[in-house]
Amino acid sequence: MSRPAPPRSVRLRRSVLSVPAINRRALQKIADLDCDAVIFDLEDSVAPEKKAEARENLRAFFSSLPTSKEEAGKERIIRINTLSSGFGAEDLELVLALEPDAVLLPKVDEPQDVTGVSDRFAEAEAPENLRIWAMIETPRGVLNAAAIAEAGRTPGSRLDCLTVGLNDLRKETGVLPQPGRAYLVPWLMQVILAVSAYGLDAIDSVFNDFKDVEAFDAECMEGRAMGFAGKMLIHPNQIEAANRHLGPHEAALAEAEAIIAAFADPAAAGLNVVNLGGRMVERLHLVEAERLVHKARLISERLRPSTSSG
Ligand code: COA
Ligand code: MG
Repeated sequence: MSRPAPPRSVRLRRSVLSVPAINRRALQKIADLDCDAVIFDLEDSVAPEKKAEARENLRAFFSSLPTSKEEAGKERIIRINTLSSGFGAEDLELVLALEPDAVLLPKVDEPQDVTGVSDRFAEAEAPENLRIWAMIETPRGVLNAAAIAEAGRTPGSRLDCLTVGLNDLRKETGVLPQPGRAYLVPWLMQVILAVSAYGLDAIDSVFNDFKDVEAFDAECMEGRAMGFAGKMLIHPNQIEAANRHLGPHEAALAEAEAIIAAFADPAAAGLNVVNLGGRMVERLHLVEAERLVHKARLISERLRPSTSSG
């Protein structure tokens, strides 16, 4: 018997900026950037001989964070090295010590890569809100995307989000970088299907050529059309476009508000379908409409100058 997917969390994850933990200058910039989430990277952007220094940078950075929410709810994620690399175990202990919002596991191949970390968190009695993000960036990861997402719903599992890593996937498969990502789309959509079945978010891959604004715009729009909640970014100049393309568009928001109003009309009580200006709208559209309006509210709350002094 099929089980309904649990309600998806409504979080803003339009722009997910990766910052190499070795780069102290870049770490200092984060407070002034308008991204929804930050990935503090200990993995690919940090050379093996610099891993210890990068961990120390994160310790110092996290201890310097203001206790008042000056960062206005930016989600914080630490990307660790794989446990098989020899660096991952120490990275994971750092995550337990710093308690970011989530750990990002690279090169997740199978559900056990996720459940093993959930178990470690449970054993360490980590707070419930320390979540797990998994990167799908290997051929096995794509093939197992559904099983990995499903592992996220087992009791005690903390999986919250899948991110796609195309640099690794291209390297592993030989698929060349091409506009439109034609040969990659089937795999990207497999990830979308997996997260949709199990109530998670999916984040699109990075775009390396951070000076090519036009191509980046096109890829953001493509990711949005595929169903990604956001895009992983490598450079601050990609934030504005990601927020614009992957956030609620004006027309979609107006439509969502109309759907909510239509179902709120007493005449629609007990109805599962209504006529919205000559178009059928079903009650299932209401859930998506409410998510969109909620996201728009989160964005406007972020833009509003803080009135609290603390
Ligand atoms: N986060 C925060 N700040 C960043 C940043 C990032 N990811 N990337 C660049 N900046 C800052 C730079 O420090 C620089 O600041 P400054 O003017 O005060 O010196 C400013 O933005 C402009 O940077 P720019 O000179 O255009 O680029 P760069 O040569 O400093 O860096 C990269 C280019 C690609 C090396 C850098 O953007 C980067 O390391 N990105 C992340 C890579 C990563 O995380 N990879 C792993 C995931 S795929
Ligand atoms: Mg990678």
